[in-house]
Amino acid sequence: MSEIQKVGVVGCGLMGSGIAQVCAQAGYDTVAREVDQALLDRGVTGITKNLDRAVAKEKIGEADRDAILGRLHPTLSLDDLAECDLVIEAIVENLGAKHELFSALGELCKATTVFSSNTSSLSITELAAGTDRPDRFVGLHFFNPVPVMPLVEVVRCGSTSEESFRLAYAFAESLGKQPIACGDNTGFVVNRLLVPYMLDAIRAYEAGVASIPDIDKGMRLGCGYPMGPFTLGDFVGLDTLYHITDIMYDEYRDARFASPPLLRRMFLAGYHGRKTGKGFYDYSDDEPVVSDFVK
Ligand code: CAA
Ligand code: NAD
Repeated sequence: MSEIQKVGVVGCGLMGSGIAQVCAQAGYDTVAREVDQALLDRGVTGITKNLDRAVAKEKIGEADRDAILGRLHPTLSLDDLAECDLVIEAIVENLGAKHELFSALGELCKATTVFSSNTSSLSITELAAGTDRPDRFVGLHFFNPVPVMPLVEVVRCGSTSEESFRLAYAFAESLGKQPIACGDNTGFVVNRLLVPYMLDAIRAYEAGVASIPDIDKGMRLGCGYPMGPFTLGDFVGLDTLYHITDIMYDEYRDARFASPPLLRRMFLAGYHGRKTGKGFYDYSDDEPVVSDFVK
């Protein structure tokens, strides 16, 4: 299998924009594909701001920033992914949408292109089985915020060839990340443990255990977590968290993974966290305050 030179990132939201940034920073020619110009612009603006901040902090020079941005090719056209050696999918957490995308990519991309998904909770086996290249399909699960978090879960399913797995693992290392090898168990390592914790926090609030800021404060100051569970939920996106719980509950039929009623209502009401300005907290001002939905 040839060396990776050109990477395609599909979806330029919270995760895709971060993944595209670290790929371009690591020297890869990076095509970032979105479906909507405003969302693409938002993703590229976020990347540019991150790089400008790194220049201001003298972590990189202006010439480095310009070179990184020069390697980044934002596009609305799927056709621009045709020559990529590796495609990393980071679109919504929905099986049908991902299947549809990989099916289109299968017709478009080189036979040697390796496909990967950043899915949080969908089965890599099921995604791979819907493509024309189940042997060249891996999970590459990054963590939010991608430019900061060192971990990547590299997921191998029954059909993944050893060659593809090694290529993906080495690719994650080439980004300066620290990979771990995972089997295709829904939620892999981190979400299998993290998701029930976040859902338990919501259930604790529903049971009247303490206020949202106090539960957050408890976990920050009592356990040293950088963010409390509600701040983290808003950061991940309550839409994404809701989809993840649905998928994990469907897989395990274990009540630990079931969405608490409050999460479902917040998802339905469009309180998706930071990305929509309101979730458990309201982000309208500099200091977040508890949002009207849960006051
Ligand atoms: N994008 C890029 N860089 C960012 C950033 C972002 N969104 N947020 C912070 N940073 C950078 C800052 O620029 C700063 O960089 P320097 O060290 O170079 O100055 C550094 O991160 C630290 O930032 P701050 O001092 O402003 O803030 P902090 O110390 O509070 O750290 C944080 C911010 C790293 C986000 C920290 O709060 C944290 O680790 N939070 C928990 C994140 C977490 O648990 N992520 C996993 C989510 S679950 C998941 O991803 C899996 C899934 O499938 C759902
Ligand atoms: P997001 O909603 O911020 O971004 C998804 C983007 O994909 C949207 O901008 C949407 O317009 C775009 N999109 C949808 N269909 C597309 C297509 N066919 N082609 C190109 N773009 C398309 O979501 P996110 O938080 O970035 O999550 C993306 C994926 O990463 C999901 O599978 C999620 O489970 C996973 N993930 C999320 C986190 C997190 O903390 N949010 C962490 C790790 C993994």
